[in-house]
Amino acid sequence: MNVLLLGSGGREHALAWKINQSELLNRLYIAPGNAGTEMVGENVALDNLNFEAVGQFCLKFSIDLLIVGPEEPLVKGITDFFLSNDSLRHIAVIGPSMAGAMLEGSKDFAKAFMKKYGIPTADYETFTNENAGDASGFIDKGKAPYVIKADGLAAGKGVLIIDHAEAAKQAVNDMLKGKFGDAGKKVVIESFLTGIEVSLFILTDGKSYILLPEAKDYKRIGDGDIGLNTGGMGAVSPVPFMSPELMVKIEHEIIRPTLHGLQEEGISYKGFIFFGLMISEKQAYVIEYNCRMGDPETEVVMPRLENDLLELFKAVNENTLEHHTAHVDEDFATTVMVVSGGYPEDYEKGREIAGLNEDFEGLVFHAGTLRDDNDAVITNGGRVMAFTGMGTTLQEALKVSYNDIKKICYDGIYFRKDIGKDII
Ligand code: AMP
Ligand code: GLY
Repeated sequence: MNVLLLGSGGREHALAWKINQSELLNRLYIAPGNAGTEMVGENVALDNLNFEAVGQFCLKFSIDLLIVGPEEPLVKGITDFFLSNDSLRHIAVIGPSMAGAMLEGSKDFAKAFMKKYGIPTADYETFTNENAGDASGFIDKGKAPYVIKADGLAAGKGVLIIDHAEAAKQAVNDMLKGKFGDAGKKVVIESFLTGIEVSLFILTDGKSYILLPEAKDYKRIGDGDIGLNTGGMGAVSPVPFMSPELMVKIEHEIIRPTLHGLQEEGISYKGFIFFGLMISEKQAYVIEYNCRMGDPETEVVMPRLENDLLELFKAVNENTLEHHTAHVDEDFATTVMVVSGGYPEDYEKGREIAGLNEDFEGLVFHAGTLRDDNDAVITNGGRVMAFTGMGTTLQEALKVSYNDIKKICYDGIYFRKDIGKDII
């Protein structure tokens, strides 16, 4: 199989690393990739949002399977573009149609969908410029903290959690007035949920699904989970408090109703669904859906998955996923992200990364890295690399991650020291 994987983060390096182990693989291309993906495939300079160019590349290089890593091309309709084009239709795409990607692309759509299909989630109301006046009353009726969400994609910045009613009203107004561009033309206000967050993933052909290992993500920049939100500073899998009973309940109350809802709505969905869950007193609520895998969760999920990933993708395309189950390594996997100094606010790129030729005990997944003209690997993003360790205990896995980090260095390097510590 010739495969094109779109994306350039740690998630894509972990997917590429996994795909590279498949018996079914002929050639693997990653667009645009990073300095890590080029070790397991061939990077190609393609703009993910230029669907024409992606299509032409697929024809020229006889691509059989297109895997879409990030959400933006999905929300903008890359799958529909391939399906509606006679010369591209034969190419299997892993990633939902635009309608399916709305689960992530529109918070209002996702909330209405959950309400309609009885999927547990926080109570909410949606406001636009037409009923903006009612938002104040809704906030006054609710209680702090107030959760305010821009409807559309906002690069992870569209969710605000605000303690004071007046500030919450102001935030709603700012969003509706265009602070987040079109993404904020609709605003969802929902009640605040307490508990522990867990990321759950399925791969689905639209009817059947396989349950992938769950993970816990560490979103804040600072130790003790304080400070600004980031794309994710580390992750662990499995999550010890996710009991088999709770998993069964989640499949029953959340996963199956979601697939049922998609079918009822006539939405074709072949790809990953990421359920961002809040677990509170043995009850799970959906905080958000994503139409893709998580990052850095993929960096702990893929190392634990024992199946041939291309075989699973082939089954998704052929609607035969019901004949497969996930085989999961019982060991713990942990990943710790090293980031650029200043992230998630302004940071500098282009710092040379030393130590990459060392022997690493675990896996090193590149995220924001680039090989420059002098053949040096330099930083090229906020999140730079993820260090994944495996072990029979969480402590052992963490030891591998943290020992490996000591072997590399660049100007401004920062990482959290407490990944996994809260659940040991
Ligand atoms: P989202 O992009 O919807 O996942 O929101 C980003 C983050 O905001 C989540 O990972 C949670 O930490 C937090 N969050 C979102 N919605 C809620 C909620 N209703 N209650 C508490 N925390 C929330
Ligand atoms: N780590 C959270 C995400 O991928 O959205």
